[in-house]
Amino acid sequence: MADRTSRISGFYRLPVERRRALLGLAREELDILATGGLDVDTADHMIENVLGVFALPFAVALNFRVNDRDHIVPMVIEEPSVVAAASNAARLARAGGGFHVDLDPPVMVAQVQLVDVPDPDAAAERIDAARADILALAATELAGLCARGGGPHGLACRVLSRPGDPDGGMLVVHVEIDCRDAMGANLVNRVAEAVAGRLAALARGRAGLRILTNLSDRRCARVRTRVPVDALGGADVADGIAAASRFAELDPYRAATHNKGIMNGVDAVLVATGNDWRGVEAGAHAFAARTGRYLPLATWRRAGDALDGRLELPMAVGTVGGALRCHAGARLALELSGATSAAELGALAAAAGLASNLAALRALATEGIQRGHMSLHHRATPRATVPTEVVK
Ligand code: MEV
Repeated sequence: MADRTSRISGFYRLPVERRRALLGLAREELDILATGGLDVDTADHMIENVLGVFALPFAVALNFRVNDRDHIVPMVIEEPSVVAAASNAARLARAGGGFHVDLDPPVMVAQVQLVDVPDPDAAAERIDAARADILALAATELAGLCARGGGPHGLACRVLSRPGDPDGGMLVVHVEIDCRDAMGANLVNRVAEAVAGRLAALARGRAGLRILTNLSDRRCARVRTRVPVDALGGADVADGIAAASRFAELDPYRAATHNKGIMNGVDAVLVATGNDWRGVEAGAHAFAARTGRYLPLATWRRAGDALDGRLELPMAVGTVGGALRCHAGARLALELSGATSAAELGALAAAAGLASNLAALRALATEGIQRGHMSLHHRATPRATVPTEVVK
């Protein structure tokens, strides 16, 4: 479905049935939408103490052009205006060619904590010297992944101890694993547990925690867009957005809200496609604070007759495994998105994040969020179904 246009004029004004028909959904896909894609029996196998299933609106954001291809972007979210605002911003970005996204290879990191290590520096040297053996041991855990071109491929030691620490010398070993199209949490945790004994023996200490890090900064997405000033509504609007960006760059109180607006778009795509949005959230905020100051993940600068936007954040997502195995709604969302790999899905989620940020800043820098953002929703929704606090 990736090659059809994502520009469907007047989509928001149509009744739900017409929207479904326009996307050419098949009978079984319509059935999935009717039930939300999850029945109680399946839910009962997913998590514990299940009583039922819980529904949220399932929508699509339009107008997205990402890496020179049109994509319909599925979103599941309870907040009014996010879908309309992202679609609107994607239309503005489209005037400058859309979003261009680079993604790192899908490398996740397992952390093995080693405590009571008598000489952490010497232990790190011994572990480094045994790197090939340890990676080979990790690979035995990941035969399927290695056959698909992924698997363990790097190792690094970090000495974290300070004199007088109650745990003795502490060393942390990172094992890097290329997870291909999986988010990879289970694969990574399996490796952490498999190699911990060998690492503890080499360190002459004890293994502590064995778990992935959600600061997946080896697996970042970087998005660029160049929006013509005219499409934005003029130079004052572009300058207002650039000033809003600088506000977030100077003030962590503003940066937190700025980043929340980015995650509105990112999370909505991740929830729709059954991904671990809490993991991506944790990674995003840790990444935002990586310099010791909490910074905005996206920035905007005026460049002549255009406004340049950039976003960088860790993007640990999958298109295989996880909830996608059992959630038909998530599989339908993935199918609608046209993403055929974790990299393509990550690119869409990241583009949705930058679009959401642009929409929020444009509204904030002009007429204000209540009129700007919320009026998008008001237009798209019959008044009778909108809670009064949204339309006021
Ligand atoms: C609301 O969900 C998100 C915003 O607060 C983001 C922002 O202020 O940039 C509008």
